[in-house]
Amino acid sequence: MSKPIVEITRVLTFAASHRLYNPDWENERNDEVFGKCNNFYGHGHDYDVRVTLRGPADPETGMVVNLNIVDKITREEIVEPCDHKHLNHDVEWLRGINPTTENLAVAFWDRLKPHFGEKLHEIRVQENPRNWCTYRGEKE
Ligand code: NI
Repeated sequence: MSKPIVEITRVLTFAASHRLYNPDWENERNDEVFGKCNNFYGHGHDYDVRVTLRGPADPETGMVVNLNIVDKITREEIVEPCDHKHLNHDVEWLRGINPTTENLAVAFWDRLKPHFGEKLHEIRVQENPRNWCTYRGEKE
């Protein structure tokens, strides 16, 4: 018997600062491309991270995965290391990465993938109500 495939999402939030720039460029070019986001001492966001898991619900629990476990792992792997930190400096596994929403989505995916395997469907990282990035593990 075929089982319905469902997607379930947990939202977590954290606050962090960052600076967007390319260290290989002159400051003028960084200002041109990143604008205010290139501010030397950074700026902050209230990040919203959505972790979506996909699969059939377990017939015994009615769940794709227990959301308490999703919450705990996402807290340990992403929220605790990043909350109230400067993403360019404080988080070891983000060092050398320009912390755009795109790059954060990929880095967060890589943190969660070993825990959730094939069930991990999408990571969405939102900086503000106007922009967010989603990643589903695809590579070109
Ligand atoms: Ni920003």
